[in-house]
Amino acid sequence: MNEFETLQRQTPDSLMLFGFWYRALPADRLGQRKLVKATLLETPLVIGRDREGRPFAMHDACPHRGMPLSCGNFDGEQVECSYHGWRFDAHTGQCQLIPSLTSDQKLKVDRIYAGSYACQEQDGFIWVYIPEPGTAGAGFTKAPEAPGSPPEVPRPNVADKYVTAYLSAEMPVSVDHGIIGLMDPAHGPFVHQAWWWRSRHSIHEKQKNFEPIPYGFRMSAHTPSSNSAPYKLLRLYADASAITTTIDFVLPNLRLETIRAGKYWFSSLTTVTPITRNHCRIDVVAAWNIFRWLPFGPTLLKFVFGKFVEQDRRTMEKQAEGLKHNPHMMLIDDADRPAKWYFQLKQEYLESRRNAEEFRHPMSGPVTLKWRS
Ligand code: FES
Ligand SMILES: [Fe+2]
Repeated sequence: MNEFETLQRQTPDSLMLFGFWYRALPADRLGQRKLVKATLLETPLVIGRDREGRPFAMHDACPHRGMPLSCGNFDGEQVECSYHGWRFDAHTGQCQLIPSLTSDQKLKVDRIYAGSYACQEQDGFIWVYIPEPGTAGAGFTKAPEAPGSPPEVPRPNVADKYVTAYLSAEMPVSVDHGIIGLMDPAHGPFVHQAWWWRSRHSIHEKQKNFEPIPYGFRMSAHTPSSNSAPYKLLRLYADASAITTTIDFVLPNLRLETIRAGKYWFSSLTTVTPITRNHCRIDVVAAWNIFRWLPFGPTLLKFVFGKFVEQDRRTMEKQAEGLKHNPHMMLIDDADRPAKWYFQLKQEYLESRRNAEEFRHPMSGPVTLKWRS
């Protein structure tokens, strides 16, 4: 096989990774007694908040005859199906009442479960743990416990006061295209142009060091690109040489970035969440301890990042048109190497799950990549 053929053979598998925590929706969309619909990995969910403010997530289909539970009522404790009034505990999914039963009918109501999922609030988002298919509680089984808690936005100094902001955008492409679009350095000069930002002519050669980390890879600490926005802001505070940035990618869909300038920092956790096979959503949550005094800081940030994300969204919307006709990809070195690592990580992860083996990291050590952007 010549090099050209190998390139043509790379096709995304569009497989979604189960057994992880995913961002379902911004926490401020959940009101008291409200039932909100959400979809993660083609799984229909109904999400709410109980009387104490604790979030919960259930499968959005009644175990009786499939009515979406999101059409029902919620009293702050139990969800009542709108079809025959079966009632379920919002957290465990355990059935509490079947109104049609007569006093001499002995059906054990508490042996019935609506599917429920581990659910937690973290950094302004509701996260839901999506287990391997077939393990979700429903029918006569209890929901499985989730291992650990959702990932957090990095905070270099936990004691610092900080400000956060988030933004989201839906993309009509598979999670794979969403993720590799996020880690791809070569589209910058063409997609992210703005007079106040950079022009196509600022393109120059770059060299970055990467190293393997558990279930992912790290772009090692370096001085951020001179044409990046946070860098331009931080230059007001610190010497160019004192500014460093670290970017991690970790399965299934996490991009963590930390920029430091002395005691100041700016960090973000970006996720690309599979909604369905051909649809994903990008959520960026940023935290920073610089410009805290700036009353419109979060607004300014939302404006700057919102522009980028919108440019990416529009690009992927157009790309989705082409993808209908050409599912192949041509990933080239070095600019697309991170994308190749992503596919390898995913493959190794699936392999280790399938064979119940230890995860084998596709990278054996540090690598230097070069590209122009
Ligand atoms: S379908 Fe839900 S109670 Fe019958
Ligand atoms: Fe982009």
